[in-house]
Amino acid sequence: PKVAVIMGGPSSEHEVSLSSGRECAAALREAGFQVEEIVADRDLPEVLRASAPDVVFNALHGRWGEDGCVQGLLEWMGLPYTHSGVLASSLAMDKQRTKEVYRVNDLPIVESVLAHKDDVSSKHVLKPPYVVKPYNEGSSVGVYIVHEDANGPPKLADDMPDLVMVETYAPGRELTTTVMGDRALTVTDIITDGWYDFDAKYKPGGSRHVVPAEVPQEIFDACMEYAIKAHEVLGCRGVSRTDYRWDDARGLDGLIILETNTQPGMTPTSLSPEQAQHVGISFPEMCRWMVEDASC
Ligand code: DAL
Ligand code: MG
Repeated sequence: PKVAVIMGGPSSEHEVSLSSGRECAAALREAGFQVEEIVADRDLPEVLRASAPDVVFNALHGRWGEDGCVQGLLEWMGLPYTHSGVLASSLAMDKQRTKEVYRVNDLPIVESVLAHKDDVSSKHVLKPPYVVKPYNEGSSVGVYIVHEDANGPPKLADDMPDLVMVETYAPGRELTTTVMGDRALTVTDIITDGWYDFDAKYKPGGSRHVVPAEVPQEIFDACMEYAIKAHEVLGCRGVSRTDYRWDDARGLDGLIILETNTQPGMTPTSLSPEQAQHVGISFPEMCRWMVEDASC
């Protein structure tokens, strides 16, 4: 079968997506597929029509690629595609609405509010420490941490969206769990010098991953269980990755979900391929499974 890997796109995670896409394309070739690499632009419909693939492998991240837009296009064109469909993609990309779904399903979160960026720049919307982030971006782009001893509110960059999410700062370790279908793979503990920002995510050596995480069994099990439940209640398909903070001084009460990523990174430094490897699923096998799981 012929697989078109779509990557790049107009989001702030363009470069990350190119990296994911190239890795996946190479792995799919290794798995025996005929592969076409497509750097997505506005002419994506025409390019896809000309390519006429059997399956589209979606390696896009962020807006337009992870938020239901491209999924809607692929539905419209009748092309089976990997990862989540329109509704789950759209919902999970909105970090604030996602929390509402977590909350009614008894998944632990920290409180957050949506606020206009002018208000956020002129006063403390929450009591510090808190975090300001776009409600619809990935890879820690545009994230501000306002510390307890901050003199004033954060000066947000001009390119921040009008509405931003302001979230009570949740201290603790970064844990994450990938789900493949109905299976949670494992838990990784991400160790960084500062916090897990863009550079720590993508620079080789920017962070250290402990797989499986050396955490109490109760915490490990909770991460596995919550990741499957989050995948289910959001209506995800294929692979997703749920990210946590765990304040180890507070035991199970200190574990909260930050978000669920419906298009988790597949770059050389990314977490999901590493977790798959850990449970004996090679990268080409993982990509093959995703293609076989694709639908529309
Ligand atoms: N947004 C990046 C790609 C991730 O979640 O892995
Ligand atoms: Mg994310």
